Amino acid sequence: MSALPYLKFAGPSLDEATIAGVGDVLRSGHIASGPWVRRFEASLSDFCGGRPVRVLTSATAAVEVALQLAGIGPGDEVITCAQSFFTVLNMIVKVGATPVFVDCDLVTRNLDLAAVDAAITPRTRAIMPTYWPGSLPDLDRLHALARRRKLRVIEDAALVMGSQWKGRNVGAVGDLVTFSFHPNKNITSIEGGALVVADEAEAARVEALRFHGIVYLADRTRDVAFPGGKFNMPDVNARIGHAQLEQLPAFLATRRSLAERYFARFETDPACVLPPRPTPGDGQSWNMWSVLLPLPRLSLDRLRFRDALDALGVGTGVSYEALHLSTLGRKHGGKAGQFPNAERIARETVTLPLHARMTITDVDRVCSAVTETIAVARA
Ligand SMILES: Cc1ncc(COP(=O)(O)O)c(C=O)c1O
Repeated sequence: MSALPYLKFAGPSLDEATIAGVGDVLRSGHIASGPWVRRFEASLSDFCGGRPVRVLTSATAAVEVALQLAGIGPGDEVITCAQSFFTVLNMIVKVGATPVFVDCDLVTRNLDLAAVDAAITPRTRAIMPTYWPGSLPDLDRLHALARRRKLRVIEDAALVMGSQWKGRNVGAVGDLVTFSFHPNKNITSIEGGALVVADEAEAARVEALRFHGIVYLADRTRDVAFPGGKFNMPDVNARIGHAQLEQLPAFLATRRSLAERYFARFETDPACVLPPRPTPGDGQSWNMWSVLLPLPRLSLDRLRFRDALDALGVGTGVSYEALHLSTLGRKHGGKAGQFPNAERIARETVTLPLHARMTITDVDRVCSAVTETIAVARA
């Protein structure tokens, strides 16, 4: 057992001013959606180059609402990547559409755009890429393809708040962009998410979709024409998210320096497949640092590797399982062997600790634990 405090693989960084701000909101009487939601949305819109943004209770809610906003339902196909979080599969299925998977790159984990092109059918309505720390897919090519084939792009940017494409924030470029404010993400509102839309008409529709489907009439009564959800963010959460967004540049700088330290330390262990290496001015953000373990060369499996790190006081995660091989994915035709890169990542990936409260010394401690565990397992 390690004498040092247990190092979780992810977690929030909340300062005392934010915590005090929550107290102020609780005392204000406005604890459900109110002025802080509007302030948070205005700041997010600034961050997204003036595009309209609406906040919701999670990125999962934002993805569901984005699909509904795009009018996607039974009979429609949505192309997504087999290597992502369950949200994308679940929400496609939940609105009654059919998920169509493609594979990803082994290193960047970005979806294969040539495979996306080949997967388009007359029933395809949208492409749903997940963006990864360290590298974005070619967004010009993705959006040109979508425009040419008249498809919406529902962009799962849960992991990449602060990543930039050609000098502009993800969200400032793009179509329907979703962010997550779960505690493990680049900023948090405890739980929460945001949806960036094309124009004010879409934003008004999102307001209805996130709140019962209610629209307000001239006589100050209400009407519903479709069954909306109940996904409005409370002001307590918006107050936290607003404060966190102001701190995003500092969080990103810390995360990047930790990621760079991982790369420097892992230079001596080329046996792992590493994420894409950062280059100066590349505009990429670092929510996670995940490697592929050289499992075929080790005498232990991933579960035992993770247990060994756990015993050394180092938490790890798995990001992510292969969606097409989940029970739900298999119900939609998923089979082993279809997407070799997504499947290999699912088998071999391990996410090592990276969050804004960590120090370089913490990274060194993780690297020593990994090196020690791999050395023992190779012996
Ligand atoms: C890639 C990705 N997309 C979407 C989500 C969903 O985010 P939320 O928990 O805010 O619904 C997550 C959450 O972990 C995620 O990792």
